[in-house]
Amino acid sequence: MQAIQYPEPLPQHVAIIMDGNGRWAEQRRRPRLFGHKAGADSVREAVETAREVGIRHLTLYAFSTENWQRPGLEVKGLMNLLKNYLRSELDTMRKNGIRLECFGQKDRLPDDVRKMLNRVIIETKDFSKLHLNLCLSYGSRAEMIRAVQEIGRQCEAGELKPEDIDDQLFSNHLYSTGQPDPDLLIRTSGEQRLSNFLLWQLSYAELYFTDIKWPDFRKDQFIAALEEYAGRQRRFGKTGAQTEGVSTA
Ligand code: IPE
Ligand code: IPE
Ligand code: MG
Repeated sequence: MQAIQYPEPLPQHVAIIMDGNGRWAEQRRRPRLFGHKAGADSVREAVETAREVGIRHLTLYAFSTENWQRPGLEVKGLMNLLKNYLRSELDTMRKNGIRLECFGQKDRLPDDVRKMLNRVIIETKDFSKLHLNLCLSYGSRAEMIRAVQEIGRQCEAGELKPEDIDDQLFSNHLYSTGQPDPDLLIRTSGEQRLSNFLLWQLSYAELYFTDIKWPDFRKDQFIAALEEYAGRQRRFGKTGAQTEGVSTA
């Protein structure tokens, strides 16, 4: 049997704003939570696809600091779904060598969700095939302010001088410490904004927007995003010729 060819180069790290569950359900005249449930199946498929094609880091925006403002029943439903997801996926993560981490304010999550989350994080901490970062009660500004506060405290304690602060040091105080920045950001449902997601880490990411709503974003759509990424030229400030290694001196 011939090995399946995936688009190259592959991003090392993909970040996804999983948007459109509510509208997907509304179009079907069903409650929003029906959309979130279908969205959980897309999460499973995205994780499986990432593992299969060989992406090493996958960061999923599941619940933002702003999402706490939604109706209490929707928040409760989402938290329940999250707990069920974690409980049902632990075995698969073990089997597939997936390491789970959480980016966000864990202390704001309900006790039962936090306990389940901590359990999965601890039980998968030695795996390295795929690093899965679930963003829960996550906001990029809150993340950066927390980093600045930590750094400030170290300066105050005399452990650090302000001139020691550089990109690397700042990155080390973010939830994503030790992981490469995302190469590709995907947002579903037609919205073209960042919604307070990884503002520092996405500095040089390629952006991919699709009208497909998250519950319909499955393996084929993920591969289409990877194909589009493979065709982009990432210049990081250089000229196209420099990037291609062509001498124009
Ligand atoms: C994304 O879908 C899931 C969360 C933000 C939790 P939405 O719930 O935002 O769906 P729309 O944008 O209202 O359609
Ligand atoms: C962003 O989606 C957050 C998540 C996908 C978890 P939202 O639906 O909350 O974003 P806005 O409010 O439309 O910008
Ligand atoms: Mg939305």
